[in-house]
This record gives sequence, C-alpha cells and structure tokens, in this order.
Amino acid sequence: MSYLLRLECRECRRAYEPAPLAACEECWAPLEAVYDYGRLWADLRRQDIASRPATMWRYKELLPLDEEPWVGKATGFTPLLPAPRLAKALGVRGELYVKNDAVNHPTLSFKDRVVAVALSKAREFGFETVGCSSTGNLANAVAAQAAAGGFAAYIFVPADLENEKLVGTEIFGATLVRVNGNYDQVNRLCAEVAQKYAWGMVNVNLRSYYSEGSKTVGYEVAEQLGWRLPQNIVIPMAGGSLITKVAKAFEELRTLGWVEPVATKFFGAQATGCSPITTAAKRGTTEIDPQKPNTIARSLAIGNPADGYHAVKTILGSGGAGEDATDGEIVEGIRLLAETEGIFTETAGGVTVAVARKLLRAGKINPNQSIVLVITGNGLKTIAAVSGCFEEAVPVQPKLAEFEERYLPVGATAGA
Ligand SMILES: Cc1ncc(COP(=O)(O)O)c(C=O)c1O
Ligand SMILES: [Zn+2]
Repeated sequence: MSYLLRLECRECRRAYEPAPLAACEECWAPLEAVYDYGRLWADLRRQDIASRPATMWRYKELLPLDEEPWVGKATGFTPLLPAPRLAKALGVRGELYVKNDAVNHPTLSFKDRVVAVALSKAREFGFETVGCSSTGNLANAVAAQAAAGGFAAYIFVPADLENEKLVGTEIFGATLVRVNGNYDQVNRLCAEVAQKYAWGMVNVNLRSYYSEGSKTVGYEVAEQLGWRLPQNIVIPMAGGSLITKVAKAFEELRTLGWVEPVATKFFGAQATGCSPITTAAKRGTTEIDPQKPNTIARSLAIGNPADGYHAVKTILGSGGAGEDATDGEIVEGIRLLAETEGIFTETAGGVTVAVARKLLRAGKINPNQSIVLVITGNGLKTIAAVSGCFEEAVPVQPKLAEFEERYLPVGATAGA
C-alpha cells in the first residue's frame, strides 16, 4: 500500500530507510517522509477518492503506512463549514470557511489525525508501549487511541494543564506523568525516556510519521472546496508542524495535478504570551528566539518550537504573515465564533479567530478572497478560559409569573 520511499533530512538531505528515528544523525534536523509521486500520479485519480469512506484514510496512499490503519479508523473528514455570519462580523466579502476539527473523532482535536498515523506505525514497528509529551490535546489523543489499539501508554504533560485535559487522559487508563515544568522541559524528559526505553514516542522517534497525519487537514480542505485551494488559510501554531504539513499537502496536490496551481497565503497564529514563531515572522527572519510561555492558550504553549524555522519559512515564502492574540482577544475570538456560527472552540481556536480579525483589520488578509480558518480543538476542554464571562444565573421558582418578571421586559405581550 505504501508509496513512501524514504525519510530524508530537511537540512542535509541525508536519506534514511523508514525506521523509528527522532532526527537526522548528522545535523539533528527533522526527517521528512518522501513519496514516489510519479507512481502515485500514475496509480491514483482524485475521482477514486470520492467513493471512499469519509475518514482521513481516503488519502491513505499519501500517508506513510505499509499496512491498513490499526487505530483511528473513523478519524478525520471533519466538516468544512461556510461561515456567513462570522464573515459579516469580520467584514469578509469573499468566501469564509471554518474547518472544524473541534469535532474530530475520538478526542475532539486535530491531534487525533497525527496519532492515528503514529500509533498505526508503532504497531508496524512492533512497539507495545507508546507515549508522548504534550500540551494537552495530544495527550488525550494518544491515551484514547492507545486504549483502543491495545498499547500501554505513558503521557508526559506540564503539571498546570487544564483539568479537562488531565481527566481526558487518565480516563483511558494511560499513565499520566505530570511534570513540574513547562512543555520544553517536559519534552526533554520525554526524549530521554525515549532514548533509554524501546518505546514508541509519538512526537519523538515516531515524529516523522506522526506529523504526516496533519497533511490530511490540507487534503480535506481542498477536496471539500471542490478540489480547489483557498487563497488564504489561518492556522494556529505550537510546535509549528501543522502549518508546514498543510503547506506540504497543498504542494502535493499541485504536483499530482489534482488542483489548479493557486498560491495559498499561509497565516500563522499564536498567543501573545507564547509567540516565538510569529515574532520571528513579524521581524522577517527565520531565527527563532525561545520564550517562556504565559498564556491561557496552553495547547499552543511551546516556547521552543521544533518546526519553528520551517513554519516561518512557510509563512514568509507564501506571502502570508504571522500575528498573535492577547488572552483577552482569545476569549473574544472564542465568543465570536460561538455566537456567530454555533461552534465552541478551545483557546487555540480563539487564537485563530482573533488573529484572523487582526490581520483583516490590518489589511494583511484580503477580505474579497477565499479564506479558511482552521479550528483545531473543542471548547469543552478549556471551560475555565470563558466561564468567568458569565454571571452565575440565579434560579427562578418553576412559576410562569416569576419567569416573566425576571426575564421579560415590562409590557411584553404574549406571542411576541
Ligand atoms: C488545539 C491545537 N491547535 C494547534 C496546535 C498546534 O500544532 P503544531 O504543534 O503542529 O503547531 C496544537 C498543538 O498542540 C493544538 O493542541
Ligand atoms: Zn541532516
């Protein structure tokens, strides 16, 4: 089934046979999956895709598995929704869409996609124990899919994560390791564990497979637009992998001749309290200065992003831009999407909406063009971020008169 040729170092181009490797042995740069596009072009038509089940596996030839997926069989193919009321609120006159991974299966974030690939690959490599370091959503996805796939799981997270994300990991029977430290310290510990034990660490020695799962966001957006690329796309960034992989997906679709060669502008979104990638993008440099995160967008709180350099290159090379949002703006973004389109996203989605608003106001996104906002996680996982917005409603007695007195303006008439 696989069209994967090799893993290749993004910097020195050294080639590796597919294996569980963390990085290039020469220069420590990330390894990229390389496919046989000539054979893919000859074997596969985009019409073949249409009749397949509505999951991310409809693009399985473009993913690095040798066998059928072991987990996450129902993951992906989330809705791409026109967002006319949000468009009006933002002053968008062209097409505006929301790619809604807040309803991804099974744990309500785009991380279900990357984990479906990583743990299926872990099974092919013969790992019995898997794990990850995580800012929350990856923890949930690994724990759930490890349970469904029969793996033991060790999940390393910063101790101060949202309660929803802690419980949403432990419920699946995974061993949750809360670490006193920020994500970058958690990640270092996890990498040491991965070196010492023969475990499949999703974002360490399985990273080059895991990250390929993010490409399916890009394939789906194109297919759901009728095999068209959007002119603009706004994507939240933590490690910076998702944005680079959506760009890779669009490039592959152009290579296969499945879409018109439209050049999409990539806009990267971060929180002001953790903005190493957008800070570099604003300066016009690929040099990333690591930061100490301090933001309510904990899922995006990676101060030293592994794919930061490539994320900036993707943004600047596309003619897009990076922008960040304060905690207050993030909450406004969450509320705006909820009140206009009925979609409750977590803080990362609030970052996307808030950054889109700022970029439109600044004239950096053209409001007459097609725009996709990538919503990557579910609001029920970060309830505390918005619960302070509402006064606790004082209960009424179950009496019509009391309801009318409390909730209806004086003089309101029946049937109005
Ligand atoms: C909800 C959500 N959105 C976006 C991201 C960013 O993904 P990446 O690390 O690939 O940049 C994450 C990462 O944890 C996330 O949890
Ligand atoms: Zn190298």
